[in-house]
Amino acid sequence: MIEVRNLSKRYGNHLAVDDVSFDAQAGEIVGILGPNGAGKTTIMRILTGFMPPTSGTAKVAGFDVMEDSLEVRKRVGYLPERVPLYPDMTVREYVTYWAKLRGVKGAKEQVSAVIERVQLTDRRDSLIRNLSKGMRQRLGLAQALVHNPQVVILDEPTIGIDPQQVIEVRDSVRQLGQGHTVLFSTHILSEAEQVCDRVVIINNGRVIAEGDPARLRAQLQPGEHLFVLIGGASDADARRMLERIPGVENVEAQGKGFNLRARPNTDIRPAIFEQVTRAGYVLLELRPVAMTLEDIFLDIVGKAG
Ligand SMILES: Nc1ncnc2c1ncn2[C@@H]1O[C@H](COP(=O)(O)OP(=O)(O)OP(=O)(O)O)[C@@H](O)[C@H]1O
Ligand SMILES: [Mg+2]
Repeated sequence: MIEVRNLSKRYGNHLAVDDVSFDAQAGEIVGILGPNGAGKTTIMRILTGFMPPTSGTAKVAGFDVMEDSLEVRKRVGYLPERVPLYPDMTVREYVTYWAKLRGVKGAKEQVSAVIERVQLTDRRDSLIRNLSKGMRQRLGLAQALVHNPQVVILDEPTIGIDPQQVIEVRDSVRQLGQGHTVLFSTHILSEAEQVCDRVVIINNGRVIAEGDPARLRAQLQPGEHLFVLIGGASDADARRMLERIPGVENVEAQGKGFNLRARPNTDIRPAIFEQVTRAGYVLLELRPVAMTLEDIFLDIVGKAG
């Protein structure tokens, strides 16, 4: 459904996208994962026909994004990084405006249906200025869905909203996978893991890895990270004990406890439990730490340097 081949984009001297290729099959949710400045937005803007690539090709539903950009736009819904919203319009007026702009037939029913789909029916007559950030994000999603596109492209839809609303937006994205092909960008690995069938990891404009998210995490993450909170020991004693546990590579203070990094493929939890108990301390907390992609990059870079 999406076919990207050897895509490059140069801004002046800066190569923002460098020979990128990937596919998204019909009904698939594909994540574009990468840190700030990786080139995610640039790729998405090329795919939506808003900007020409410097070289390479991209097709959506069989149409070339440059040669058939009108056909592409009919079939693509796009939620940009910053959604242009009009604060003095109501939810319904805004979605109706987009429905008309896109020539949607039976606009009235379609507008109601799409507002229901993003769970804004009870706010349909509210002014946009009075919506929460998460609601605005869902309204942006309604704008992207109003013409019932085959392909939906979402540029970091969970950025800057509170945790509860992040969960709601992720749920909406997952549901979109039934009936649409979804391309979704994020810089949070665990988010890609929760939402996507497949992930394409981009760094400095290049694809550095691609595949099933859980497998990629295992590949990229150099050992598991754990948070440990110990009672009955001074910080110095707790640290000394943790550092002596075989398989522990790194101990870092984190609040009242410690973040540990284990050697790859090593489960250090039994040893932690045993050592803490033997020393007569109390294990108050022991849990895995979810890492963002940036953490992992920093980790890899830190180890190399
Ligand atoms: N219009 C532009 N003119 C010049 N350089 C640009 C332009 N747009 C983006 N860039 C540069 O291209 C690179 C990729 O930018 P892009 O916005 O695609 O990255 P991104 O992965 O979306 O980043 P973020 O996570 O911050 O949104 C960055 O170095 C950026 O500074
Ligand atoms: Mg971006």
